[in-house]
Amino acid sequence: MPDVRIRPMTDADVSTAEEISDDAFFALDTAHRLPSAPAPRRRSPEHRAAWCARTRGFLASDPDGCWVAEKGDEVVGFATSFRRERVWCLATFAVRPGLQGAGIGAQVLDPARAYGADLPRGMLAASVDPRALRRYHRAGFRLHPQLTLHGAVERSTLPRVGDVREGGADDLAWMDDLDRARRGGPHGPDHERLLAAGRLVVTTDRSGYAYTNGATLALLAAEDDDAARRLLWECLAGAGERYEIPHVTSENYWAVEVALAARMDLRAQGYLGLRGMTPPTPYVHHGALL
Ligand SMILES: CC(C)(COP(=O)(O)OP(=O)(O)OC[C@H]1O[C@@H](n2cnc3c(N)ncnc32)[C@H](O)[C@@H]1OP(=O)(O)O)[C@@H](O)C(=O)NCCC(=O)NCCS
Repeated sequence: MPDVRIRPMTDADVSTAEEISDDAFFALDTAHRLPSAPAPRRRSPEHRAAWCARTRGFLASDPDGCWVAEKGDEVVGFATSFRRERVWCLATFAVRPGLQGAGIGAQVLDPARAYGADLPRGMLAASVDPRALRRYHRAGFRLHPQLTLHGAVERSTLPRVGDVREGGADDLAWMDDLDRARRGGPHGPDHERLLAAGRLVVTTDRSGYAYTNGATLALLAAEDDDAARRLLWECLAGAGERYEIPHVTSENYWAVEVALAARMDLRAQGYLGLRGMTPPTPYVHHGALL
């Protein structure tokens, strides 16, 4: 096992962590690319900046949940995590390609996991990397396969959606209550990031909300399947040429029904890792803010 030192992450580590994350996920996407899928791309400068801003947000709210692994004086791996009332979430976890599979991930994940060990629930969005899946399984997480629904939306299938409106800062309190009911904790400070990245749509009776950016569904939570369906149709109505709904567990079959009705495709991709809870529904989680 390489000689590594584990220490808390600081602001000065964020850009190196971003580079490691981009390298690690680019290598993973290249290795697991389906022949029919477009070639993986490196992150854009905007995506890199958003990643760094989000990570600095975790450092501000949860400094004890964010750790790095150092080899010599070089950061080679990291794990970022946060607590939201009853739920601990792993935001990101990566080790520099070339150093993976040698135990560094296990060492840097341990203190992040310990940070949430007293909470009854845990959530993480697992990649398809077999090394990640082994780590999460050994850390006590159950892995739930998920679907990505994707493709062009056939606009002639769009129904007239009633009782939805644009959301805003005044809606965050009831949205947090809904998150407490669905996953055990509010999104709290994370709404700021979500609002900055896209559009917030809510039902007029406050039974659900969704964040969308015209290309991807970022997050959806609702009280019942009917509200969830209406919100998803509204997101599809605002879709550009193609749209993607990632992170759909089989418990959220209402989303599969909507996507197939809109003539979109589906593929299996990644896992929702959970401890102390079953897959939330109706709920489509965010990859890092869960
Ligand atoms: C996931 C990741 C952070 C884990 O870090 P790591 O240093 O590689 O992990 P470790 O070496 O501590 O653990 C890997 C485990 O997989 C096993 N393993 C190693 N190579 C493997 C392979 N090719 N196939 C399957 N298992 C493998 C190891 O034996 C170890 O399991 P064990 O502890 O039960 O023996 C790292 O591999 C990575 O950055 N992957 C790409 C990005 C990613 O997927 N991040 C996770 C996001 S959810």
